[in-house]
Amino acid sequence: MNKIIYLASLLVLSMAKTAQAEDGSRLWLRTEMPEDITLCLDSTMPDDDGYRISGKTVTARTQMGLLYGKYALLRGEQGESHPYFKLRILNHWDNLDGTIERGYAGNSIFWNNSQRSTLNSKHSTLNSQLIKKYAEACASIGINGTVLNNVNASPKILTQEYLQQVKKIADILRPWGIRVYLSVNFGSPKALGEVNTADPLNAKVRRWWQKKVKEIYKVIPDFGGFLVKANSEGQPGPFDYGRTHADGANMLADALKPYGGIVMWRSFVYGAKHQGEDRVKQAVSEFAELDGQFRDNVILQSKNGPLDFQPREPYAPIFDHMKHTPQMAELQITQEYLGQSKHLVYLAPMWQEFFSYVEPSRLVGIAGVANIGLNTNWCGHHFSQANWYAFGRLAWNPTLTSEQIAQEWLSQTFDSKPSALNSQPSTLNSQPSALNSQPSTLNSQPSTLNSQLLSVMLRSREACVDYMMPLGLHHIFKFDHHMGPDPGGFKADYPIEWCPVYYHRANKDSIGVDRSSSGTNATGQYREPYRSLYDNIETCPEEYLLWFHRVPWTYRTKSGLTLWDEMQRHYNKGVAEVDDFAYIWQQLKPYIDEQRWEEVNGLLRFQQQDARLWRDTCLKYFAFPARN
Ligand code: GCU
Repeated sequence: MNKIIYLASLLVLSMAKTAQAEDGSRLWLRTEMPEDITLCLDSTMPDDDGYRISGKTVTARTQMGLLYGKYALLRGEQGESHPYFKLRILNHWDNLDGTIERGYAGNSIFWNNSQRSTLNSKHSTLNSQLIKKYAEACASIGINGTVLNNVNASPKILTQEYLQQVKKIADILRPWGIRVYLSVNFGSPKALGEVNTADPLNAKVRRWWQKKVKEIYKVIPDFGGFLVKANSEGQPGPFDYGRTHADGANMLADALKPYGGIVMWRSFVYGAKHQGEDRVKQAVSEFAELDGQFRDNVILQSKNGPLDFQPREPYAPIFDHMKHTPQMAELQITQEYLGQSKHLVYLAPMWQEFFSYVEPSRLVGIAGVANIGLNTNWCGHHFSQANWYAFGRLAWNPTLTSEQIAQEWLSQTFDSKPSALNSQPSTLNSQPSALNSQPSTLNSQPSTLNSQLLSVMLRSREACVDYMMPLGLHHIFKFDHHMGPDPGGFKADYPIEWCPVYYHRANKDSIGVDRSSSGTNATGQYREPYRSLYDNIETCPEEYLLWFHRVPWTYRTKSGLTLWDEMQRHYNKGVAEVDDFAYIWQQLKPYIDEQRWEEVNGLLRFQQQDARLWRDTCLKYFAFPARN
């Protein structure tokens, strides 16, 4: 009898704890592809990438559709599915020296990556196995394009030396349906010393680009096109020659057109033509008047919000203005302003919020600023992998819910055996969190492990908003690296739009920026009903209150609290939420493999401290005016 109990407990233990060490390198691709799948090509399927799954049979029009279908089968899909967006593109902000702008997971997998290389070439090394694995991960979630270098682009990317490297990468990615694009520096012809100007209307410049494009297509026949950051944050652009964004974009578009290439021209601009204007208004001021002037292979690529990837922004009104210009949304997967690779923040709810304001049918594609690097687990934080995953899944189908996506990711990433995830841990709900200032509602209900993790993911973005930017207070991050709070940040030698004090303008009476019709009138750039809704302090949703309004400290919020008390409530709630996440994670220890448990646990500890740092720094800074 004793022996039976002993054996049974061993079995339970082995179910509960995955025997194999896990380092996160396998991402969500931890299950072998079943060998008995029937694959059928069917020319009557409506598009190239879609698939139909019935039982274990996958039907598609092309090999690529079959590949997408196989991964869909692995995650348990049945029925028919077609990609919503034609362009599902990752943007890597990778520099040619191997560093990554806003990259928090090690150096570039594409450039100068000697650490994990197997294949030597003259100028840099290319780890083809690693890139293949990257390609598989992207294909498994439907991503079909990648921009290989930083938008702050080095002109050198267009030299033969680097184009040869691009060709090698493109060759590895091609079988996975991933097309390669490049960011280009608008000043390239001049910077490379080949023409003495980069004026887009100059015949020599136009010829230079035509020749360059021809050279590119010779080595990469299915090259996708260019991504351009022009006249923004010090980058060269058509303004340097008195020309417009349309002149610049069209010149590149003309060069690419014969080969079917596109130009993704970014609208993230400020401080150039409209310097001095409220920064959130400058994209509309600069681009709206150009609508209708772009070639048909130019796409305007805009960040989801009008400022810069804050944890919560209202949607960017540029999406209301361009009636004749195809548009793409640029989302940021790397968590520049969301705790980088140190905070657990699941971004799908933020992206869905954006889609609730900007109808996906307005867009031809989605770009995501990648969070991928040479780190063994690819993204720095095991849970940041979920953001790469969610980006791909939403680019395929923006109507998927955050919950559905998180569930898919969890079941593929943490344990393929549902029995382990769904067992009822007896101790899980029994203790209140020691660090919790408020009792968690979650812990009062019996729940499965799977739903505990799901709950952490789904609450994580709002928690981050609460401890970093309650009520729409924004951009009070530390200079340059954007990690941590700096509400008093001001540097006389910096543009004022880079200084935190510009964004909260707190004094003893009030806080916030008046962007209503009596202030900068940023609200006037929105379509109805949002224009009126945001313009009036009484109807403005509270999550955007300090984004659009300058509000007295004594103002009563909807809860009846004063603004000051309401702010404190949010900061405290954010901290309590992170405490709860850490508590839940502690309880899950027996069910999660050791390495990943330890690594996430360490990061959650850090996040707890950092949430407190945000709360305490901001409340201390704002307390003086608030008390007076
Ligand atoms: C932000 C970010 C920069 C980046 C820029 C962009 O400002 O901090 O590193 O270059 O966005 O999107 O172009």
